[in-house]
Amino acid sequence: MDSIRITGGTPLNGTIAISGAKNAALPLMTCGLLTDERLTLTNVPKLADLATMAALLTQHGISVELHGRSITLGGAITNTVAPYEIVSKIRASFLVLGPLLARAREARVSLPGGDAIGARPVDLHLKGLEAMGAQIKLEGGYIEASAPDGLTGANIIFPFISVGATEHLLMAASLANGTTTLQNVAREPEITDLVKCLIAMGAKIEGIGSDTLIIEGVHRLHGATHEILPDRIEAGTYACAAAITGGRVFLENARAEDLGAVLAVLREAGVEVTELATGLVVERTKNLVGVDIVTEPFPGFATDMQAQFMALMTVAEGASMINETIFENRFMHVPELNRMGARINAVGASAIIRGVPKLSGAPVMATDVRAAFSLIIAALIAEGETTISRVYHLDRGYEAVEQKLAGCGAQIERVN
Ligand code: EPZ
Repeated sequence: MDSIRITGGTPLNGTIAISGAKNAALPLMTCGLLTDERLTLTNVPKLADLATMAALLTQHGISVELHGRSITLGGAITNTVAPYEIVSKIRASFLVLGPLLARAREARVSLPGGDAIGARPVDLHLKGLEAMGAQIKLEGGYIEASAPDGLTGANIIFPFISVGATEHLLMAASLANGTTTLQNVAREPEITDLVKCLIAMGAKIEGIGSDTLIIEGVHRLHGATHEILPDRIEAGTYACAAAITGGRVFLENARAEDLGAVLAVLREAGVEVTELATGLVVERTKNLVGVDIVTEPFPGFATDMQAQFMALMTVAEGASMINETIFENRFMHVPELNRMGARINAVGASAIIRGVPKLSGAPVMATDVRAAFSLIIAALIAEGETTISRVYHLDRGYEAVEQKLAGCGAQIERVN
């Protein structure tokens, strides 16, 4: 198992190219099941999770060709079973259920199960598919589903916002008989990207960017070419890394509008962000000050930025209160940051961070993809050496981290 070793204290200066968004690429790859024609995705990030998703689609019969940063998907569905071994590794693989039902009218998909940050049920996905006429039962940890006459349009109001359920039902509805109305949908930029790709494939969808999507089902979707949007979470993550070191970094391709409240919070904390047509310049010349945040669906402060922002707040003046409202167990980075001298007290869904003058390097352990990077952010400012173990978590969501950080002067290396 690889580890990453960092010696802190060097301000980051230079340019970091932001890759395509992981959380858009995964559902977009699933769209390969919605047509036999060729779907080409460009600006694809090089991430472990995408390789696993490619393996899943391949065993469904879909051909997956990777050329540099483009993936071309094609071919017909020959297998409608999504095995536990793959689905348990990547939750997003559960999204194949709706497309399999829409096109093959049957599916046997493993329930994803929970992971480090929470139970992560899929009840909204299943209730929505049942509303669209699917017969669903649970057998041996697998969802056995069928829709002999295909899926039927339905009116669905989400009781609370779910990114995955929105994506799932959006794809299923695109090929359903009749019209589906989805209300109280997630409005993350990744959803908008998925809608754009589906429309390019011939889907009829209205309400893009709003809280209600109206999908008029079509009989078939055709191939298309779609460029994946830049990863806003990667951009926000590197903004925190630049800010904590007091450096100046140009985040190439980053888009201010995709960061929502994260940008306003960073500025309130003392980080200067300049918006250019080709990206964002992030620098910090003033002292960091503690800012309170509540994680919310987009455009609120993204839960996927919580751990990284918490690391930044460990050395801010004053205190910061963080309230994690999306996942029930997303504070596992707290004890690791405290090992480095941070003063964080987490109780239930809230954590108070009291700023300290400095952090000290220490051996720490990554627990999930965002927690892994929060430890990197802390290590970049900590005195001495930090070794972060279990960095396979990092590789699931971030491409070429050592190269991107070393390119801006960080003292970082991967050791195995
Ligand atoms: C997506 O997960 C992202 N993953 C997550 O990013 C992100 O944290 C999350 O959205 C919220 O923004 C991908 O896009 C691949 P949800 P998803 O459905 O779709 C509960 C990362 O670090 N819920 O919006 O699974 C759920 O348990 C990852 O890149 C139900 O109860 O998130 C959670 O508490 C982590 N029933 C809340 O809703 C359901 O049927 C939000 O989950 C569905 C969700």
